[in-house]
Amino acid sequence: MARLVVNNQPVEFRLDADTPLLWALRDAANLTGTKYGCGTGECGACMVIVDGQAMPACTLSLGEAEGRSVTTIEGLSGDRNHPVQQAFVAEQAIQCGFCTPGLIMAAAALLARNVNPTEADITGAITNICRCGVQPRLVRTIQRAGRILRGEEKGVRVPVPATATTPGL
Ligand code: FES
Ligand code: FES
Repeated sequence: MARLVVNNQPVEFRLDADTPLLWALRDAANLTGTKYGCGTGECGACMVIVDGQAMPACTLSLGEAEGRSVTTIEGLSGDRNHPVQQAFVAEQAIQCGFCTPGLIMAAAALLARNVNPTEADITGAITNICRCGVQPRLVRTIQRAGRILRGEEKGVRVPVPATATTPGL
């Protein structure tokens, strides 16, 4: 059992303390935006923000997460319009899509501590693996998100997609 805060909500997971946080989020909390790639802490697909730091959820156990505050892609922005999300759409940095939530979380954590990162800051901090070669776009994307956060550029709001649960559809 472990108590932690997930997306600003107190949560008690009645699972073994050795359970990887990734599986608690995906299977118990139905927060499936956090993806499973390698399972060994290398690819970044499962990146979440823990007490302000981007961390792979696959190698963090529930016991280690006890008492900590975890933000997943679902909790990054109530309306899916965090400046990083806006910049990803504007720069067309969404490639296969599977890696995107982890990339967005890593980028958001970087910008929270350094709102004006250089290319070297970005390549040093974002270690997520992307086989489709999104890295040059990623630098532009994160720098654009930084400009939005600094108020130097207006973000372009991303429409929330209609889903089967949207009233009236
Ligand atoms: S699935 Fe966690 S780092 Fe790859
Ligand atoms: S965004 Fe998924 S492999 Fe590049």
